[in-house]
Amino acid sequence: MPLTRKAYRAAILHSIADPAEVGIEASYAYFEDGLLVVENGKISAVGHATELLATLPADIEIIHYQDALITPGLIDTHIHLPQTGMVGAYGEQLLDWLNTYTFPCESQFADKAHADEVADIFIKELLRNGTTTALVFGSVHPQSVNSFFEAAQQLDLRMIAGKVMMDRNAPDYLTDTAESSYVESKALIERWHGKGRLHYAVTPRFAPTSTPEQLTLAGQLLGEYPDLYMQTHISENLKEVEWVKELFPERKGYLDVYDHYQLLGERSVFAHGVHLCDDECARLAQTGSAIAFCPTSNFFLGSGLFNLPMAEKHKLNVGLGTDVGGGTSFSLLQTLNEAYKVMQLQGARLSPFKSLYLATLGGARALRLEDKIGTLHPGTDADFLVLDYNATPLLGYRLKQANNIAETLFVLMTLGDDRTVQQTYAAGNLVHQR
Ligand code: GUN
Ligand code: ZN
Repeated sequence: MPLTRKAYRAAILHSIADPAEVGIEASYAYFEDGLLVVENGKISAVGHATELLATLPADIEIIHYQDALITPGLIDTHIHLPQTGMVGAYGEQLLDWLNTYTFPCESQFADKAHADEVADIFIKELLRNGTTTALVFGSVHPQSVNSFFEAAQQLDLRMIAGKVMMDRNAPDYLTDTAESSYVESKALIERWHGKGRLHYAVTPRFAPTSTPEQLTLAGQLLGEYPDLYMQTHISENLKEVEWVKELFPERKGYLDVYDHYQLLGERSVFAHGVHLCDDECARLAQTGSAIAFCPTSNFFLGSGLFNLPMAEKHKLNVGLGTDVGGGTSFSLLQTLNEAYKVMQLQGARLSPFKSLYLATLGGARALRLEDKIGTLHPGTDADFLVLDYNATPLLGYRLKQANNIAETLFVLMTLGDDRTVQQTYAAGNLVHQR
């Protein structure tokens, strides 16, 4: 293959460690006049432009972005593809919201043409918002995952998805059986897992909608293939937590249900965890499991405030999730805007560098992909963004008052959204241009 090499010049910022572990100053690298060199879809160098240029051939192609910041692509560790058409549904909390809005909306994915159409809209929306990797719930229908992976494969995106497993406490038109969910998931794994940059996630929706037989088979699938993911929901809403106690009286609590069926582990991501107790956080950390923190959803569905300091105390891996359509934005910048308020309401802080970590390296660690995505380290996939300091008149004016990169970053996360994302690159290819 001929070598393709290009360089991108702009301010460059990436998270290189968790501020909770190393302190804020050691958690990031910033180059005010930086250069990112990309070769054959991977990053080959990052650093100060003047230093790096001296080491490169004089005729190397350089794209210079003025008044812009290059960051790693953002990572959404929890989102629902088939809820794209129901973002912002009025009035209900989790369990009624599922019955009133979610299940009818997801039923439309029985139609492959509909699944194709929404997969296309969904991927465009991710890329417009600078999300280059997502951990995605499909619907119960295998074609929801086929349509998504077909579209992601065309753009060579690094994506993870799975078909929902759901064999009780949902309408008949939307349930599978323990056996059919196993067979259909297996067929999807065989077709997609490890193909290019695609990975499969075994996806029991949440404990209330799976029988013990289905949860047993979900655990069995995880044992049958290497490096499979597992995604589900946990302790999002108080009525849900009570319901799980009624359905599984023999278990110690919500997490223990998943633990019993061997669904915890290094590639297991649990969405929400708003009402987890200290012991449950400890057990999640001990098994290497991760939490997807979904602030816009937790506000919108009135679920509660995620206790990030408790997760940090246990050194639990935490990524950021939009949880569209319980969440109200595809933008991880807007999601961080809300994450900040979740901390404010608990008398705590969220530094802009911790926010950057959550949306990039923290997400990559939650997904065990930190050697491939989440930073701009040489050797990793060239998934990166160009953020425009002048995306809106207010942003441009406000950023002129910023004195340092910490302030700039915080304002980008407070005022920024899809308009701020000027370019999105995946595997070195331009996949979105505003
Ligand atoms: N719990 C079970 N299913 C869902 C879902 O689709 N969205 C959210 N936010 N929580 C869930
Ligand atoms: Zn969800």
